[in-house]
Amino acid sequence: MSEPIIIVDNVHKSYLMGKEAVPALRGVSLEIQRGEFVCLMGPSGSGKTTLLNVVGGLDEPSRGHLIVDGQNLVSLNENELARLRLEKMGFIFQNYNLLANFTALENVEAPMVLANVPRKERQERAHKLLDRVGLGDRTHHYPSELSGGQQQRVAIARALANNPPILIGDEMTGDLDSETGFAIMRLIKELNEEGMTIVFVTHDPRMAEFAGRTVELQDGKLLNGAAS
Ligand SMILES: Nc1ncnc2c1ncn2[C@@H]1O[C@H](COP(=O)(O)OP(=O)(O)OP(=O)(O)O)[C@@H](O)[C@H]1O
Ligand SMILES: [Mg+2]
Repeated sequence: MSEPIIIVDNVHKSYLMGKEAVPALRGVSLEIQRGEFVCLMGPSGSGKTTLLNVVGGLDEPSRGHLIVDGQNLVSLNENELARLRLEKMGFIFQNYNLLANFTALENVEAPMVLANVPRKERQERAHKLLDRVGLGDRTHHYPSELSGGQQQRVAIARALANNPPILIGDEMTGDLDSETGFAIMRLIKELNEEGMTIVFVTHDPRMAEFAGRTVELQDGKLLNGAAS
C-alpha cells in the first residue's frame, strides 16, 4: 500500500495560559490514506480544531511528528509551510471566512493570486469552480449579498482553487440549516469520489454519516478509529 497522505505521530500540543500549560492534544497518532473521507468528532474542547490546525500547519505541535503528502511539517520554515498549505490543502470553516470587500469571483481567485497564477487563467478557473458549486450566476455578488449556504459554496470553490489533494473542514455545516448542510455534504462527498482526501469536524451525527471513517477525540486523545 502507498504511504498515507497524512501521518500524525504522537502529537502533543499545549497552549501557554500565563504560566500554565493547557494541554489540547495529548499524544495523538493517526494515519489517513489518500482518498479517505474522515470525520473527527468529540466533545467541545476535546482538541478537534487543534488537531486540524496542526495538520494544516496553522499551529505548531509541542511534540511529535506530522507528515503531509510526504513532507515533514516540523522541518519546514514559515515560507515553506505557507506554500505547502497553498498547494496541498483547502480549508473550510464554520463562519466561511470570506473576504467581505471581495466578490465571490475575487474570493475564489485569492489563493491563485498567492500562487502566482496568471490573471486570465485564474479568472477562468474561478468561473469554472463557481459553476461547479452551483453559483455561476452569483460571481459578482459580495458575501453580504449571499445566503449562508451560498457563502459556504464560495468557500468550497476557494478551497479548491489551487486543486489541493486534501480538503479540511471545521464545522463547515455548523451555521447552516440541515437541508443546506446536507447539500454541502453531498458536494464534499462528490469531491471525495473524485479522489480528494477529506478530513472534517462535526458535532452532527447526520453529517458524520457521509464519512468513510469516524475518529473520536476526548480530552486530547483518540478514543478509536486511529487506523484505517
Ligand atoms: N489559542 C489557544 N490558547 C489557549 N488554549 C487554547 C487555544 N486554543 C485551544 N485551546 C484549548 O485547547 C483545548 C482544545 O481546544 P479545541 O479548540 O481544539 O477544541 P474543539 O474540540 O475544537 O472544541 P469545539 O467543539 O468547542 O470547537 C481547549 O481546552 C481549549 O481551551
Ligand atoms: Mg473546534
